[in-house]
Amino acid sequence: METTTCRVCDGAVSEFVDLGDQPTANGFLLPEEVSAEFRFRLAVGACEGCGLVQLVTVVPQEFRYHAGYRYHASGSVSHREHFAADARHFLEAELTGPDPFIVEIGCNDGVMLGTIAAAGVRHLGVEPSGNVADIAREKGIQVLSAFFDEDCAARVHAEHGPADVVFGANTICHIAHIDSVFRGLETLLTPGGVFVFEEPYLATIVNGMAFDQIYDEHVYYFSAASVQAMAKKFGFELVDAERIAMHGGEVRYTIARPGARVPSARLAELLAEEESSKLNEPATLAEFGRNVARIRDDLVALLRQLRADGKTIVGYGAPGKSSTVTTYCGIDTELVPFVCDSTPGKQGRLLPGSHLPVRPPADFADPYPDYALLFAWNHAEEIMAKEQAFRDGGGKWIRYVPEVEVI
Ligand code: SAM
Ligand code: TMP
Ligand code: ZN
Repeated sequence: METTTCRVCDGAVSEFVDLGDQPTANGFLLPEEVSAEFRFRLAVGACEGCGLVQLVTVVPQEFRYHAGYRYHASGSVSHREHFAADARHFLEAELTGPDPFIVEIGCNDGVMLGTIAAAGVRHLGVEPSGNVADIAREKGIQVLSAFFDEDCAARVHAEHGPADVVFGANTICHIAHIDSVFRGLETLLTPGGVFVFEEPYLATIVNGMAFDQIYDEHVYYFSAASVQAMAKKFGFELVDAERIAMHGGEVRYTIARPGARVPSARLAELLAEEESSKLNEPATLAEFGRNVARIRDDLVALLRQLRADGKTIVGYGAPGKSSTVTTYCGIDTELVPFVCDSTPGKQGRLLPGSHLPVRPPADFADPYPDYALLFAWNHAEEIMAKEQAFRDGGGKWIRYVPEVEVI
């Protein structure tokens, strides 16, 4: 449903970028499903009241998260290491009282809770996508198949008692009913408990031109300023914001009950940085919108030129981001005949929107193309190291974030 009203404060939402009609980014298709593909207008605006950047149209959550959800959180070494470190941090710093309890919203395949379960600490993952929830269960993790909201929180509280930590990673920005999430926290969190969440950072998207982070699942594009306003609006306090390297640059926010924790110095620093860089201002966002269109034109021109010169190009990685960029740029099989990806559930299917076929990574070397268009740019280091033979044989990588570049 299209809205011009902020989902947090009811302020007016002013649109600054339109990426056209787009599919759901994890809706990988079988060839016979193409004609029934769902599309909606992918546009983003900022609230004139609280500054929160948000999708103008939200796809119903049941369309996005279901038993065929293709994103598996344990798919890369860096993610496994990152979430194991998160879990160790919670075990050492937060889950230290008698019989502590942690809830994860969107635990996916259990990449974080696996370490908590192995430590024998009480935990519950809330995960609506049945296929990934089952993978977590097979690892011995407790999972409730549900969408987290205030009713779910009340049920969890009734069955398990209050939570010392409620955690979410790359999930909280997916939940349109964020007001209900906060009402749930009101019930579920202990008086001294924390709500910690890690999400794509508006500055990475706007200053770093990571426009492909915009897709149906990312309903909100948080900044420290907008999260601070949101926490206050719902009766909580933002007490920390730490920049982390995940997904090209995210922020880990910590929210507590008012006065329960001392706000950190680095939160004040990040708020000041947003202020001085004018991150949350309409002129900055409007300029971003213009730059997105320029990058599209530069990328399409490069791909067309390379093909005219007889070069071959293969896409590398099929993250949700690749759906946005290929659909927005109109990249078809003439330019990029296929994309390779290590996720078994994506292989043999078509990328949403652009319908580029997804094949296993082995096909990348059979034979190597002249150029590889790196859609999974946030895993550049891991992928380039793995594919060193491609470069050794004269292959070149193409990136388009923050600018179109051959490397
Ligand atoms: N936390 C993992 C990570 O950071 O890699 C998985 C992130 S994945 C992009 C988002 C997950 O959130 C999906 O597994 C999805 O099913 C789940 N999700 C979406 N809406 C939710 C909700 N309302 N409550 C709980 N989980 C939700
Ligand atoms: P993400 O950016 O959302 O983590 O998704 C990365 C995608 O890239 C995911 O579909 C898995 C894929 N991938 C590969 O194909 N090879 C790799 O080496 C890595 C790290 C990821
Ligand atoms: Zn607002």
